[in-house]
Amino acid sequence: MSGTLAIIGGTGLTELPGLTISAAHDIQTPFGAPSAPVLEGELNGLRVLFIARHGHPHKIPPHQVNYRANLWALQKLYATDVIAVNAVGGISKNMKPGTLISPAQIIDYSFGRESTIFDGEFAPLSHIDFSFPYTETLRAELVRSAAKVDQKVINGGVYGVSQGPRLETAAEIFRMERDGCDIVGMTGMPEACLARELKLNFASLGLVVNSAAGKGASAITLKDIDDHLSAGMQRVRLILSQLVVD
Ligand code: HPA
Repeated sequence: MSGTLAIIGGTGLTELPGLTISAAHDIQTPFGAPSAPVLEGELNGLRVLFIARHGHPHKIPPHQVNYRANLWALQKLYATDVIAVNAVGGISKNMKPGTLISPAQIIDYSFGRESTIFDGEFAPLSHIDFSFPYTETLRAELVRSAAKVDQKVINGGVYGVSQGPRLETAAEIFRMERDGCDIVGMTGMPEACLARELKLNFASLGLVVNSAAGKGASAITLKDIDDHLSAGMQRVRLILSQLVVD
């Protein structure tokens, strides 16, 4: 990694063991306070930034995360590349719990979230190109680093972003499947478009923690999600530690 990596930790990753913390930045932004102090430290000997998307302890629901403040704070601390870690539900057949994926595309079904810094107040109105919402080179790097530590990350796929905090109905998931979504989560947007507006390289590392509604053999239980989260996030940490030194 030639620039400074920032990690946005999601559900199951509110802390980053292995990070030697040198500072906790309480940053105020034009958009208010970020979800938590931005931690600065060293991972595998290199400078990284870390922020817990839902706060630490985990308490901010997906639709109330101050995505603008979080991204702005990371940029202010000179992040160049951002990896967003997302726990997601699996829609396509191959998206079984435990699968890791770096999606290439997004369909946004969320609503009512502050989703631009170009609001005419903070910055003049502007329209970003968002045809390819993730940074291809960063995704490729992520997949390569994962392979070095024997972890398979599927390169590509469509991330459907739901509003939450409830999980979806089975019919909503079938609609998303017809639309072409492979995974579903609640936090993919507006994080990705804000990163683009701020000219940050951005990729998602998604961990499938359950089969989406109507896709599994039984109802979704939080216990199942938790089991997949703790095992999967160990692998996520391994991959991120490798990514910083590559
Ligand atoms: N739906 C939406 N978000 C999620 C899911 C899901 O099934 N699992 C983890 N985050």
